[in-house]
Amino acid sequence: MSETNEFPNLRILDHPLIQHKLSLMRDQQTAPIQFRQLLREIGLLMGYEITRDLPLSSMDIQTPIAPMRAPTLAGPVSIISILRAGLGMAEGLRELIPSAREGHIGLYRDPETRQPKEYFVKLPEEPGRVLMVDPMLATGGSAVHAVNVVLGRGVPASEIRFLSLVTVPEGMRVFTQAHPEVPVFTAALDSHLNEKAYIVPGLGDAGDRMFGTQ
Ligand code: PRP
Ligand code: URA
Repeated sequence: MSETNEFPNLRILDHPLIQHKLSLMRDQQTAPIQFRQLLREIGLLMGYEITRDLPLSSMDIQTPIAPMRAPTLAGPVSIISILRAGLGMAEGLRELIPSAREGHIGLYRDPETRQPKEYFVKLPEEPGRVLMVDPMLATGGSAVHAVNVVLGRGVPASEIRFLSLVTVPEGMRVFTQAHPEVPVFTAALDSHLNEKAYIVPGLGDAGDRMFGTQ
């Protein structure tokens, strides 16, 4: 795991398996079924890192040999997928934390204004630690909006972690200015945005590649 000087809230997960799988996802020859499978696997691997600081409490149990106080997760964990592409990464997180509650925030980027348009919000009542998932953090507009929605439900910023797959400096600047206290975990800080606000080199439109809609 590495950090950058410009973005103290950004952690780049440079595990070789994550990097290898991301390269396969970037390849335009990769079909939707493989793309989804890879996204699920990366979600699981990245989930290991973003849950590293989950608080623990303890409970009394009896092993076959002796009684003991055993560590256990202290509170609820919620996975919040940003639709559509967040669904793929959330699958991996769900495997890792089967007890997690789940929420969904439906957003799409208006092709003209490039601003996020919200079309659906359903969140757990008492979410505890919130793991927000969206593979692409491009202009940062969607991520900033989604975090605003969660903060608006009374979740403290200190309980939020944002999991992306690929980001760029432009989007990270926007996100960090809006939410400096929310850590972002990513697999790659790419070069820049193109004239259509797509990440370069990126992997294209994540939602379309997942669902074969283009
Ligand atoms: C993609 C992606 C993010 C957003 C990032 O979703 O999954 O939500 O774009 O762009 P931004 O940082 O510039 O806001 P999209 O709007 O394409 O919707 P989709 O997942 O339904 O395809
Ligand atoms: N959304 C995507 O899915 N890909 C990008 O490169 C930018 C926004």
